[in-house]
Amino acid sequence: MFSRRISAPHELNRLARALAGRTRPYLDLTVTNPTSVGLRSGEVDAFDGATSGRDARVLAALADQRGLVYTPDPKGILSARTAVSNYYAAVHGVLVPPGQIVLAASSSEAYGWLLKLTGDPGDVVLVPAPSYPLLDALAELECLPLRRYALASEDGFAFHAAAVEAEVQRVEASGHRVAAVVLVNPNNPTGTSLALAELGALFALAKERGFAVISDEVFVDYRYSDRPQDVRVAAATTSTSAPDALVFSLGGLSKSAGLPQLKLGWIFANGPAGLLEDALERLEWIADAYLSVSTQVQLALPKLLAHARGTADAIWARVLRNERSLQAAFPPGGGVTVLPVRAGWAACLRVPAVRPEEETVLDLLESHDVLVQPGYFYEFPFEAFVVVSLLPPPGVFEEGLGRLVRALTPHA
Ligand SMILES: Cc1ncc(COP(=O)(O)O)c(C=O)c1O
Repeated sequence: MFSRRISAPHELNRLARALAGRTRPYLDLTVTNPTSVGLRSGEVDAFDGATSGRDARVLAALADQRGLVYTPDPKGILSARTAVSNYYAAVHGVLVPPGQIVLAASSSEAYGWLLKLTGDPGDVVLVPAPSYPLLDALAELECLPLRRYALASEDGFAFHAAAVEAEVQRVEASGHRVAAVVLVNPNNPTGTSLALAELGALFALAKERGFAVISDEVFVDYRYSDRPQDVRVAAATTSTSAPDALVFSLGGLSKSAGLPQLKLGWIFANGPAGLLEDALERLEWIADAYLSVSTQVQLALPKLLAHARGTADAIWARVLRNERSLQAAFPPGGGVTVLPVRAGWAACLRVPAVRPEEETVLDLLESHDVLVQPGYFYEFPFEAFVVVSLLPPPGVFEEGLGRLVRALTPHA
């Protein structure tokens, strides 16, 4: 009756069950929806006017008469792809021909298309651990088994191509093929970015073993400071020549402009001549089967991206402020260690491993009315970590932190 690709019914975990049965209010330190954390213009808490007038500008950009006529282009209408190209040039100093950009309704949809493009059912997708949990579902829906390669915990969860190579060898030894290797750069939730030398080693491996690289860069605009060796846009690492392997960089409005509800993401494809054109032609064919990005948001894209920086700055100010509160709440040398936050909207706390993470998180919710995520949601290699979002309104965040301090460092 149903496809085996969905291993349903998925059971609710203990935290979800506790939340479902809850009536008492709690402080939510997991919220990552930028439209519901008091950053919109007109909301009490808007930051220094940085977002002032933004709602009106977004709505005006969407009210474009041309949207009354439907003239679809599977890769996305040219003015919208040119806007993405201009954004890469202005914000990241990277030249991206519009012909190498494909629009999708979100980066999640882009993942689905790229997995369709590169994998046959049974081929393996490699993803980092710890990292973004939705990747499991996205691979499962394409009938592609997912395997993890470790980010080096001893090196602050940095990417090392050797870990990918070891996993590729294991997959191949079991008679399977690796279709794609996913990078999350900067990573969610650890904020770590990839060093150029490691990307070079990964491309060499990709060329030799015939897999594609998918680099999820949705948090690329949210970095504290770049180490000189950090890669920003993987598909553009070589400005003078194309990379040796097929590489797809993903981005979108949900993070870069704080507008997840408008549903627009993009793929920037690069690779060796011949292979790249072939990939783009097939990707266009996949996109043509869906034509999922609304004309209205595509027409609005030049204006939305032109104003994105103001929103990104407001989000960034919020993240930095909350991060300072976090550092002050858990100074070095205490029982709880805040992992260095290098990028993104999350922070990871290493907490005493005196009981399973799940117990810690349930106790925080039930006895202290504060919600955080356990590290195992993100496949940390060992316990105990909790992950907090840095987006909540500062008042909520600081009160939530106070509760975390009382619960996690009771003798301090
Ligand atoms: C690493 C990462 N990639 C992709 C997404 C989803 O982005 P989109 O809204 O474009 O699907 C998220 C959302 O939190 C994310 O953390």
